[in-house]
This record gives sequence, C-alpha cells and structure tokens, in this order.
Amino acid sequence: MTKILVLNGVNLGTLGKRRPEVYGTLTLDDIHNLLSKEFPNVEFEFRQTDFEGKMVGFIRDGGGSDGVIINAGAWTHYSYALHDALEAISVPKVEVHISNVHAREEWRRHSVISPAVNAVVAGMGALGYVAAARYVLESSSQR
Ligand code: DQA
Repeated sequence: MTKILVLNGVNLGTLGKRRPEVYGTLTLDDIHNLLSKEFPNVEFEFRQTDFEGKMVGFIRDGGGSDGVIINAGAWTHYSYALHDALEAISVPKVEVHISNVHAREEWRRHSVISPAVNAVVAGMGALGYVAAARYVLESSSQR
C-alpha cells in the first residue's frame, strides 16, 4: 500500500480552534479523514510536533515512505534545519500552507524550505493537502 507521511509543525496541533477566520475550522483529524476518504487505497500517517528536532526526525522517517506532505507552520520562514532535512530525502515532497501566505504579513512571503521540495501549495485551505496527495501519487507512480 502506498504510504504518505503528512507532517504538521509548530502550532498546527490547534488547527480548528486557532484563528478559524484564517485557517478554517477543520482539525488535523478532519483533514486526515478527508484524505482517507478521497484516497482509500493510500495510507496516510499524520504526525504533528511543536519541537523542531523532532520534526527533523519525522522528515528522515519520510525518506522511507512514498512521499511527504509538510506544513511546517512558522518554521517555514526560518528553519534551515528543516530545509537541510528535506533536501536529504529523495521521495516526492510537497510544502502546504492552508492560508495564502503571500497575501499576509511580509515575513510569511518567504519560505526557506521551498528550494528543498518539489511543489508548494498555499491558500487552498484543507484542499491543499488533497492537491498535495494527488501530486505525490502521480510523481511516485512515475518513479
Ligand atoms: C501556515 C502559514 C504560516 O505562516 C504560519 O506560521 C502557520 C500556518 C499555513 O498553513 O497557512 O502556522 O503554514
């Protein structure tokens, strides 16, 4: 069975409650259910942490899966450690942002992890995770 790791970083454990006008009302569990319904033949392993070093380990684990979807939260904008961890794995990787980071504060417009992933999705809400999964599946079938 195809396995995709869905990694969510700092503050994303509060999804559903945190600024719903920006991030919507779905929780990570809701997004997990959405993906499982949309792709019944794929195993999605969801992991979330507020600790950067732990996320580095999760990314390394993702190297043994069929693809990684990552919403790194605020780490996106400054974590070279996550960049380097992503760069070191060779499975399809997609960076997801629920909000349109380009329409928000200036500092959110820059991602230091984008150069280390294959694709970036922003502003599509929870649907961004579905689009990312579709991309990973297409890419992994071509490998
Ligand atoms: C986010 C955007 C980031 O700027 C922010 O720090 C987050 C969530 C998003 O999904 O839109 O925590 O990655």
